[in-house]
Amino acid sequence: MESHSPKSLRQVSGLSFIFLLVCYTFLASAKLHVHEFIIEAKPVRRLCITHQTITVNGQFPGPTLEVRNGDSLAITVVNKARYAISIHWHGIRQLRNPWADGPEYITQCPIQPGQRYTYKIKIEDEEGTLWWHAHSGWLRATVYGAFIIHPRLSFPYPFSMPKRDILILLGEWWDGNPTDVLRLAQLTGAAPKVSDAHTINGQPGDLYRCSGPETVRFSIFPGETVQLRLINAAINQKLFFAVANHQLTVVEVDSAYTKPFTTNVVMIAPGQTTNVLITANQRPAQYYIAARAYDSGNAPFNNTTATAILEYANANAPSRRGQIKPVFPVLPEFNDTATAIAFAKRMRYWKRAPVPLHIDEDLFFTVGLGLINCPNPRSQRCQGPNGTRFAASMNNVSFVIPQSYSVMQAYYQEISGIITADFPQVAAEFDYTRNVNRGLWQPVKATKAYKLKYNANVQIVLQGTSIVTPESHPMHLHGYQFYVVGSGLGNFNPKRDPARFNLFDPPERNTIGNPPGGWVAIRFVADNPGAWFMHCHIESHLGWGLAMVFLVENGDGPLESVKPPPLDLPRCQMRSFGSSLDLKYLMFVSFWVLWVFLS
Ligand code: C2O
Repeated sequence: MESHSPKSLRQVSGLSFIFLLVCYTFLASAKLHVHEFIIEAKPVRRLCITHQTITVNGQFPGPTLEVRNGDSLAITVVNKARYAISIHWHGIRQLRNPWADGPEYITQCPIQPGQRYTYKIKIEDEEGTLWWHAHSGWLRATVYGAFIIHPRLSFPYPFSMPKRDILILLGEWWDGNPTDVLRLAQLTGAAPKVSDAHTINGQPGDLYRCSGPETVRFSIFPGETVQLRLINAAINQKLFFAVANHQLTVVEVDSAYTKPFTTNVVMIAPGQTTNVLITANQRPAQYYIAARAYDSGNAPFNNTTATAILEYANANAPSRRGQIKPVFPVLPEFNDTATAIAFAKRMRYWKRAPVPLHIDEDLFFTVGLGLINCPNPRSQRCQGPNGTRFAASMNNVSFVIPQSYSVMQAYYQEISGIITADFPQVAAEFDYTRNVNRGLWQPVKATKAYKLKYNANVQIVLQGTSIVTPESHPMHLHGYQFYVVGSGLGNFNPKRDPARFNLFDPPERNTIGNPPGGWVAIRFVADNPGAWFMHCHIESHLGWGLAMVFLVENGDGPLESVKPPPLDLPRCQMRSFGSSLDLKYLMFVSFWVLWVFLS
């Protein structure tokens, strides 16, 4: 027996050496990225006028984060602006760590001016294009940037990945302070003023006043294929996107690969990302890249067009800069819902998807607008349609964002009075998509959540309503990716429609819209405990209450439970009696009384 030992020992140590080596290469490739985001007002000149603009590190758009799957980040946000702020890492799952998710008063209180907070983020099994943005009022109008996750070192892509990437951040610019635009709308109850420009990487482009010289230009070599990473960071606007004379091959949406498909135009809603491949296979020249509104509602919208230029790197091109105008792409009509739907319908997950098949939580939520009636319709505060105030709701509940404490902190510390877990499982029955009785137009204001058991298989049908106007609402779920298993026009039919669901290769996303006057169905497994916001990514609709919260319970043991909150989590400013301020005041008063009494 003994004589075997040295040999087996050698074998064992040899094996463990290989094991350690594998571990080492795996761990060594996982990096920690340390960043500082200084939130600061900086002068930014657009449309001939300079505005003091809230930026990150003086950059607009903000810095790009670039990491690999498996990496970690520590991002210290230092607030040197005059507004309280929080940052959301859109699409990052933040497993068991809602404290780093960011939406103000949902998972944290905002970072007050002069304060700082370090977001500690671990990337677990995610790769592709995501983004980050402020999640406080309308600060995200200028506080946003890309968040790119490459696969682990030497892990392949499911398609042939071009060597070069071009980042295209689509945004909206107000010739004014976006926070003032929001405040005015909150005061009057009317719709907020529409933006003055759409932007590509912060620039409106050739079609706007004072913007021509700064139009963004991308160069491409004849024959070259590059990947465009599109991000819709606009506040309110769904957009059509196209490049003149060039086809686009979609390969990824919301950090999930798709079966590649080719299209002339992309529809991208606020919150969504889309990666497309483009090949320089046309006559060497300059071609316009353009983005303008897809607008399915019947309210005013920004009908202007943002442009950038794709230029072939060819010295002998007949259309050198400033000579012949670049070719302009054909864009769909503003209200071309057929094109938007046809585009969405072509998306498929790149392989067989692990869609939950048996459902534990069968949820049916209406999503739509509403109007709040005013006791005095002539009041300054009631400048919505016919002397009302605009509202929006899910299941007739218009979400009120808490103002003193975050939902997650209240949930974790079992503090009552912040949120109730009685969000309805199914909407009241009515004919959602035709003429809805006026009596159903006014939602109830409340802060409600829906509880989910750990690991529950969840299906949500998001049913659009035609209240005020039928519209597509790009719904974003924090903390999760979901599968989009079906969609259709009109009212969802629970008997007929599920039979047509795609349970084989439905696209995986984190933001999806119902077709206007229709529904969309999503599925996911509730494997991430915490308080997770679900809301329309059209910022004006979110402000009107188109939101709710999922409270996902812990599972068994620490590996299935929410981590403890970090020590530097921003302090909440409790307004009610018993807050730290009140306590200090009370102590001061009692010392004073005692002193007067004793002396
Ligand atoms: Cu990108 Cu709650 O949002």
